[in-house]
Amino acid sequence: MIGVNTLQEFVVARQADFAGATGDLSRLLTDIGTAAKMVNRHVNSAGLSGILGVHKANGNTSKNVQGELQQKLDVYADDTFTRVLKSCLKVGGIVSEEQPGIIHVDHSQRGEGRGYGKYMVCIDPLDGSSNVDVNISVGTIFGIYRRKSPLIDPATTSDFLQPASALVAAGYVLYGSSTMLVYSTGGGVNGFTFDPSIGEFFLSHPNMQFPAEERVYSVNDARISNTDPAISAFLADCRDRGMTARYTGALVADFHRNLIQGGVYLYPGSFDKPEGKLRMLYEAQPLAFLAKQAGGETCCHHHDLLDITPTSLHQRTPLFTGHPTAIARLRTMMAASAHPIPEPAGVKVLR
Ligand code: AHG
Ligand code: MN
Ligand code: MN
Repeated sequence: MIGVNTLQEFVVARQADFAGATGDLSRLLTDIGTAAKMVNRHVNSAGLSGILGVHKANGNTSKNVQGELQQKLDVYADDTFTRVLKSCLKVGGIVSEEQPGIIHVDHSQRGEGRGYGKYMVCIDPLDGSSNVDVNISVGTIFGIYRRKSPLIDPATTSDFLQPASALVAAGYVLYGSSTMLVYSTGGGVNGFTFDPSIGEFFLSHPNMQFPAEERVYSVNDARISNTDPAISAFLADCRDRGMTARYTGALVADFHRNLIQGGVYLYPGSFDKPEGKLRMLYEAQPLAFLAKQAGGETCCHHHDLLDITPTSLHQRTPLFTGHPTAIARLRTMMAASAHPIPEPAGVKVLR
């Protein structure tokens, strides 16, 4: 049953919960909703509009800064989100999975005399993009930090290298059987479903919380042969408890299912790649923030992920996130492991 609140109404109503709120964050969140609608339109018509497959520039396939092949929709989603975010006066800088460095946003160059905005946005414009060609769910993940350096100069790397516990807001869009936007500004997690006939997101999942039951574990089992044996033991224990396996290859879709049904997502590091695959700033940290707000927990092999300060923009991290008691059991088992994965380079722990 679709609720009465549109995303915009809800965001503005929530603004009143924060003393001294100026409406700047509300504007930014509704702009993200607008970009999500634009990407949604393309994702839904990808097979018809010739935008399946890999992106080519001058006849050659292109790779992003991580060395991953870019899909056409990766490039479209990146262009769309960065264009919308750059036009938002509150944004001072963007870090995207698809671009190597900080995208600085100087509003004074547009004659608006405002300099740089106060919010730093980290974004995975299209998550799980290899799913597009086979018509399976994909997503977008975003995290918003408040800038620390003065607004008169371009943002610095350290404006982005903040722990997940410092996030002002985070969320994701899931382009699935229906399209949803789920976000939190720290007072719980709320989900909105897109009604394409009206062109609006409506509140459909108020105050999302992990259910008490543990039903699902999500892991690519091709990634567990060369990792901490405690993880295989944990998965065997999950099966003994009657949990079932589900894995889509899109982190957003797996996280969302686990949030609704009660589950845990695992992407470990390995002995030859202790840092794993997923990216700290625009995959792990926003989802860790949302998980916490929904009563869940998130860790890498050795620490609570909310306690880690990133040391580089495209840093990778092992990620275990979801149901709190499942994560607690996993942490206990990994802490007692005879063959733990070594700490990846560049891990800086807050406490
Ligand atoms: P992206 O498409 O943004 O690069 O992210 C893909 C990620 C994540 O969504 C997913 O959970 C994971 O890669 C899947 O990796 P494996 O194919 O190794 O399982
Ligand atoms: Mn991703
Ligand atoms: Mn991506």
